[in-house]
Amino acid sequence: MAVLEIKTAGDPVLKQTCAKVEKIDKRVKKLLDDMAETMYATEGIGIAAPQVGVSLRIIVVDVENKRYDMINPEIIYREGSAIDAEGCLSCPNLFGDVERAEKIRVKFTTRYHKDKEIDAEGLLARCIQHEVDHLNGRLFIDIAKNITRGKPNRETEQVK
Ligand code: NI
Repeated sequence: MAVLEIKTAGDPVLKQTCAKVEKIDKRVKKLLDDMAETMYATEGIGIAAPQVGVSLRIIVVDVENKRYDMINPEIIYREGSAIDAEGCLSCPNLFGDVERAEKIRVKFTTRYHKDKEIDAEGLLARCIQHEVDHLNGRLFIDIAKNITRGKPNRETEQVK
């Protein structure tokens, strides 16, 4: 496994719509492991493939000591709305308030080729929505309000 370089805002790879993964091969599994290692090394709770320069629909999240590797994630249900502070490994030192659905259902394929659906709420739901946005070329700073530099304006700040 390896800690990969994080691409930051301004890099064109972050503005692209990522391609679907057609085949879950060794390369994809290695990418998942490297993304996870990079996320843990940078103390993030989520990471999307374009953040390490790969334009594929892959995210890894770990909000409460449970890691999810999601290939081709798709949010198939959204309920409610919540505003909270976010940050992003690709936007160092920037924080802002983002409105997201409060509860979601996400469908994805696991590294073992299984199709899975999970329901998420709170921070996990927020994190998944933030990462799926990355797959569509969208950064939180494109949609955030009250962007601040240096420190979050709320205590619940998490970096994704
Ligand atoms: Ni991010």
